[in-house]
Amino acid sequence: MTLTAPAEVLLNPLRDPQDRRLPRIAGPCGMVIFGVTGDLSRKKVMPAIYDLANRGLLPPGFGLVGFARRDWADQDFTQIVHDSVKQHSRTPFREEVWQQMASGFRFVPGDFADDVAFEQLRETIQELDRERGTGGNHAFYLAIPPSFFPDVVSQLKEHGLSQPDTGSWRRVVVEKPFGHDLESARKLNAIISEVFPPESVFRIDHYLGKETVQNILALRFANQLFEPVWNSNYVDHVQITMAEDIGIGSRAGYYDGIGAARDVIQNHLVQLMALIAMEEPVSFDAHSLRVEKQKVLRSLRTPSRLDLHTSRGQYTAGWAGGQKVPGYLQEEDIPRSSTTETFAAIRLDIDTRRWAGVPFYLRTGKRLGRRVTEVAVMFKRAPHLPFDAAETEELGQNALVIRVQPDEGVTVRFGAKVPGTAMEIRDVNMDFAYGGTFVESSPEAYERLVLDVLLGDPPLFPQLEEVELSWQMLDPIIDYWADHGKPDPYESGTWGPRSAVEMLARDGRVWRRP
Ligand code: BG6
Repeated sequence: MTLTAPAEVLLNPLRDPQDRRLPRIAGPCGMVIFGVTGDLSRKKVMPAIYDLANRGLLPPGFGLVGFARRDWADQDFTQIVHDSVKQHSRTPFREEVWQQMASGFRFVPGDFADDVAFEQLRETIQELDRERGTGGNHAFYLAIPPSFFPDVVSQLKEHGLSQPDTGSWRRVVVEKPFGHDLESARKLNAIISEVFPPESVFRIDHYLGKETVQNILALRFANQLFEPVWNSNYVDHVQITMAEDIGIGSRAGYYDGIGAARDVIQNHLVQLMALIAMEEPVSFDAHSLRVEKQKVLRSLRTPSRLDLHTSRGQYTAGWAGGQKVPGYLQEEDIPRSSTTETFAAIRLDIDTRRWAGVPFYLRTGKRLGRRVTEVAVMFKRAPHLPFDAAETEELGQNALVIRVQPDEGVTVRFGAKVPGTAMEIRDVNMDFAYGGTFVESSPEAYERLVLDVLLGDPPLFPQLEEVELSWQMLDPIIDYWADHGKPDPYESGTWGPRSAVEMLARDGRVWRRP
């Protein structure tokens, strides 16, 4: 099949017409961001849009509209985007790309209850359609706290912004956390679905946009090597760790009352778990993936002994990166009596033939020893070792570790003979590192996800059912914690509270020290 290059490709000499990414270039469109002054917009979304433009994946007439309660003109908004791009973009700054892009920036001042502002937004979008050929195709990115979603989506409806004309599209992008429990997630969805049909709602879980997370599917389903041992006959347990060395920084307003389990277990870690545990999908289209992920989530068993199989903690003062850091309760704007957990670990079981008896341990925390996210599939020991016990003293369990970040790659750990006259066996690692293998650096998760929104490509966006099922699993744990005192303290820079160590020790296991 010969691909005809779109006009914008022909205009851009940096593009190779044989480039296999051609079908993945966004057509005429624009994006409206609500919450342009927030961290998410400045550090992730705007830089990602620039990186996409720089890689030639956006149409030259792309329009970007900022909406916020600020007394700004288009130039002020342009300056904000400029600063954020300069500071946070992955790819180098190129003046000609910037100029082309910046000519499509518009700013609409107003708050979410302001009818006049939404009228102005409608006119701005029409003007972009006329002047830049955005074709009536617009995505509304809600980079705002969920409490404002109802106001914004109903305003979009009132002002005729949510309804596309024939042949064009309107989409809404919402960030996690989608609700703070099952009930609120359902309510939120009811509000959004009154305005946008399900196929126009894109829920972002940025972990699904990470290359290494997508590589889980490649690793499992493109190879013959791993799948035969990917089950309870060979796997002892799985550890999924998302550790951060940072504290909550300036995010007190968001984080306090939310905590580690709602912030990342309900979404990122449960999604990682689903990709590790699911059966092979018929294809990688959204429906087939969803079906398989949902089967895993439906088979999840929340522990019956929440006192034994969960742990939560809160960091106290300590050290991070050689610097003395305050405890959570001393952070700015955190109430001194807060019981919000900054560390959470839970054991989950999956009631399927493949995973019966194989616990999945999920843990996450702020102010831990270092920043690392990994999935470690820990294998059973060989059923028989024909060696003297002393010779295998240093032999651990075989492991396959998917290093999500940093130092992206995969490690296989197995036993090897130590050189010498004795038969001494010790663990060694075999490594694949993205950095050493591929020339091109991995795109940021938001690049992939923003592009998928503009292309209307849904596989990497969790569906409502997945969100509901993961709240269903988490709600009893969070309720239990709420009724049972405070989180256990752990010193900043360590690997979490004692209760987390004890939780695994009871099962005869230990956490990996990444
Ligand atoms: C976000 C959480 O979803 O993920 C943050 O709200 C967390 O608390 C962040 O810091 C981590 O993302 P990443 O991509 O740096 O691992």
